Amino acid sequence: MASGSEDDEGNTTGASWRLIGPASELSKKPCRLMYSPLGRDSDVCLFYVRGQFFAMDARCAHSGGPLCEGDIEEADGVLRVFCPWHDYGYDLRTGKSGTLLEQQVYEVKLVDGDVYVKHASHLSPRLFPAKLARRLWVLPRCSEGKATTWVDDLCTCRPSISLMSLAI
Ligand code: FES
Repeated sequence: MASGSEDDEGNTTGASWRLIGPASELSKKPCRLMYSPLGRDSDVCLFYVRGQFFAMDARCAHSGGPLCEGDIEEADGVLRVFCPWHDYGYDLRTGKSGTLLEQQVYEVKLVDGDVYVKHASHLSPRLFPAKLARRLWVLPRCSEGKATTWVDDLCTCRPSISLMSLAI
């Protein structure tokens, strides 16, 4: 659903590569819900299946079911996540289902062991508190001055810094 990125004024201009975190950590779970400060319709599921990462809108296109809680199955060489609410299946690569419904998928790349997702906003494994979301909107860097990336609530450039411990 999200299709642009913000400038310093918060205007949407186009998707950018968002550093999510180290693949070594992110590959420990089959799915992580990544929150967007743009709101729940822009949250993303980051799947790790069969050695590959996939990113898709987190809320089912049918009625908003939580796709991160869905089962993942492979049939005829196609990996699908099945919504836990009404069992619609979505291709992890294309977002297509056997119906007219389709999930937005996002490009994922690995660079030097880090996972990036092309998305309109920053993405975090923790819900953005309203004030912090505003700060990150214009200050996409952690207190160490590096690009903001958080895994399990810890800044990956300095794990002693918790997302929730930042003064806001
Ligand atoms: S909400 Fe996902 S299939 Fe209905």
